[in-house]
Amino acid sequence: GKVRRPTNFICTISDDRGEEATYCGVPISEVVEKGYTIADVIGLLWFKQKFPQWASQFLDMVIKVVADHGPAVSGAHNTKVTARAGKDLMSSIVTGILTIGPRFGGAIDGAAKYFKMAKEKGMDPVEFVDYMKKVEKIPIPGIGHRIKSTKNPDKRVELLKNFAKENFPSTELLDYALEVEKVTTSKKENLILNVDGTIGVLLVDMFRALGYSDEQIDELINAGAFNAFFVLGRTIGFIGHYLDEKRLDMPLYRHPTDDILYDVKRPEGA
Ligand code: ACO
Ligand code: LMR
Repeated sequence: GKVRRPTNFICTISDDRGEEATYCGVPISEVVEKGYTIADVIGLLWFKQKFPQWASQFLDMVIKVVADHGPAVSGAHNTKVTARAGKDLMSSIVTGILTIGPRFGGAIDGAAKYFKMAKEKGMDPVEFVDYMKKVEKIPIPGIGHRIKSTKNPDKRVELLKNFAKENFPSTELLDYALEVEKVTTSKKENLILNVDGTIGVLLVDMFRALGYSDEQIDELINAGAFNAFFVLGRTIGFIGHYLDEKRLDMPLYRHPTDDILYDVKRPEGA
């Protein structure tokens, strides 16, 4: 009989051996001819499935709304500073990407994880807020914003919520998160359900509606698959900021010393 040589790698998402490469079995020409969107390609390469139109439209919207949020945020700032130090595109954008994490842009996985856990455990919103403070001892991922608040709502969040309300089969976890938001904003007006939080809970609602089990959703979250949407989307903005710096031919950046509190003390005996 045939003896299969053990291979070093396994690939279940694409194949380049035929006349043309395929994304999860779909030839690239079919992807183009049938008008697959970026979200459809993500469906094939990240999740090995063809999304229904509502899910695909939602993911396209996610990528669009996170693409940029101005020059002042951590990632864009890093990209600009690196570009001004004379570095290339790759080096500059990677410094931006590396800032994506629990405080900035990368709270999507955490929001999905904790809101989902709370709902599954039947915690009421007050109990959940209390649990995060006293037991987990971390800020609730997906809650809070530096400049957005109940008085200055985040338009992106409104767009995502409205789309989901009109097109998702169910918005169970979003509805729960909005109840939590009522509790947190009653304490402080900037403790809104932010863009990361909204995307996180809606991705859980989306994958549930697509038939994923709780365990499968947890696996995606643990793998970082939800934050991946921010990484992908915001990279569009980082590239824009890098190109802007080059176009403007900006010089090396040095932070003004009057904006730094120097508090250096010589140690005893030194
Ligand atoms: N959950 C509970 N309490 C919070 C949260 C939260 N997520 N965020 C802030 N607070 C409380 C703080 O405990 C603090 O309370 P205190 O005044 O009693 O000490 C108060 O609000 C102010 O906290 P700061 O950290 O100073 O708030 P800041 O406005 O600087 O923080 C931030 C903004 C970093 C987004 C914060 O809210 C946070 O860490 N949120 C969770 C992470 C997150 O979702 N990040 C994504 C933001 S959206 C994006 O980046 C695209
Ligand atoms: C972002 O999308 O980068 C923001 O929500 C963060 C910010 O502080 O504006």
